[in-house]
Amino acid sequence: MNLVLLGPPGAGKGTQAKLLEDSRSLVKLSTGDMLRAAVAAGTELGRKAGDIMERGQLVPDDLVIGLIAERMDKDGGGHGFILDGFPRTIAQAEALDRLLKERGKKLDMVIAMEVDDDGLVARVAGRFACAFCGEGYHDIYKPPKVEGVCDRCSSAGFLRRQDDNEEVVRSRLEAYHAQTEPLIDYYTRQDKVRTVDGMADIATVQKEIGRALDGEGRKGAKNGAKTPG
Ligand code: AP5
Ligand code: MG
Repeated sequence: MNLVLLGPPGAGKGTQAKLLEDSRSLVKLSTGDMLRAAVAAGTELGRKAGDIMERGQLVPDDLVIGLIAERMDKDGGGHGFILDGFPRTIAQAEALDRLLKERGKKLDMVIAMEVDDDGLVARVAGRFACAFCGEGYHDIYKPPKVEGVCDRCSSAGFLRRQDDNEEVVRSRLEAYHAQTEPLIDYYTRQDKVRTVDGMADIATVQKEIGRALDGEGRKGAKNGAKTPG
């Protein structure tokens, strides 16, 4: 099963991708994580992408398509891929179809996470992650069980993302509505979209996605292409 998690910044794509990776043995491909790793490592790609990410704009298609192709070959994809944050443009969606086809695979489902813009800024502003294992947290919605200690690896260092401030989140939301939201129509025409209510709590969203994957989900985008999450 190869699936795309589609939704604006803070919709919960990364949170749910991690849960699916753990529960369904799928390989998570997150372009945001890959780009942040390139920035941290100071590679040529990281130098090209860093400023663009800090402004909340999209990195050029050819760079992220190259990243995904490389990782598909490196990671194999066993039971399938979960794509988190890719594709984000029609050109990327067409490239994904091509990349999967070349590897004898196909895209099975697109989970559209429906959320409202107002709730997202608070979600993103409260986010932090373990500096060692990357486990994601939120000040209010998902604090570590023991304050200051990572649930997963017990280390005590945490990081916040540079693009997680209100001004940049607004730019990321604009980029989402202008360039990524049209993908809902693109995939609806292929009958691949299942919607979940991304405003529900993390466990409820996880259950809804599980139902969609097991063939019981809501078909299509509830609100059309306007607010698909
Ligand atoms: P990327 O890293 O993909 O960021 P994003 O799309 O803006 O999404 P986020 O990671 O902010 O949100 P999320 O949906 O993963 O939410 P999360 O699960 O963390 O991209 C960053 C940048 O890289 C882009 O701006 C662009 O520049 C570049 N880029 C990346 N991919 C690209 C591409 N394909 N093409 C071009 N450029 C690209 O959840 C958020 C918080 O809320 C967390 O703290 C979490 O604990 C909490 N939370 C999650 N779910 C819930 C819930 N149901 N209830 C309450 N809290 C919740
Ligand atoms: Mg993410």
